Amino acid sequence: MGVVVMRGEPVAVGEREGADGEATSARRRLSVWRHHLSSYVMDDTFAGAYRRAMNDAHLELLASDGWREMLRDMILPFAFGGREPADLGDDVLEIGPGPGLTTDLLAERLSQLTALELDPVLAADLARRTSDSPVVAVVEGDATTMPFETGRFSGAICLTMLHHVPEHEKQDQLFAEVHRVLQPAGLFVASDSVASEDLEALHVGDVYNPVDPAGLESRLTAAGFIDVDVTWHEFGWRIHATRP
Ligand SMILES: C[S@@+](CC[C@H](N)C(=O)[O-])C[C@H]1O[C@@H](n2cnc3c(N)ncnc32)[C@H](O)[C@@H]1O
Repeated sequence: MGVVVMRGEPVAVGEREGADGEATSARRRLSVWRHHLSSYVMDDTFAGAYRRAMNDAHLELLASDGWREMLRDMILPFAFGGREPADLGDDVLEIGPGPGLTTDLLAERLSQLTALELDPVLAADLARRTSDSPVVAVVEGDATTMPFETGRFSGAICLTMLHHVPEHEKQDQLFAEVHRVLQPAGLFVASDSVASEDLEALHVGDVYNPVDPAGLESRLTAAGFIDVDVTWHEFGWRIHATRP
């Protein structure tokens, strides 16, 4: 499959085709939000060990009502882009849930969701918060060496986390691991921001290794995926890829 480049076109995260007014409004909201994000960046930086890959300001944002709204209205619609959460099947892996607002929204639409989180504190908090959920299971672990058997999951999703994986090779290892733990025909959906000054400012003291979407088709293909579909614009990218 080809790469669809939307960069430079008047689109925004969450845009629906043909809805010009809606797209403009979404774009304006995202711009306002980005300024809001920048104002959160604090002077004292977090000593960025990979075990705790986010600074405190970033963490606060990812647990906020504003982020929940943006996920629901813009980021998830863009990430799925014509697909549905149901396309991920009945045993889904979420990689890098952080405080778990993505987990909450996905759990509303899925029957079984395993959230794999590297940070032990975040994993424990999310496990505690979702302990009554019949849908969510939280596992502390590293997505570059996953603690799951081969072919376990019907689908996998990874939202706004790949820029926290510190090396290109580690990101490729993560893709290879997703491929390994998916069942044949399993769908992988991923989305993240593209490099920008605002995004970099938010990561003072953090891991900041944004993915260049132009290289994603070949990287996913090298990991063994087929039907790799990459879409991006000036704010973010998404991929849909299938395990053969
Ligand atoms: C920016 S947060 C995104 C949280 C959530 N997906 C969202 O969109 O709100 C990225 C998360 O990925 C986690 N993470 C980073 N590297 C990871 C890895 N190798 N395995 C699992 N989780 C990882 C971080 O600890 C962090 O909680």
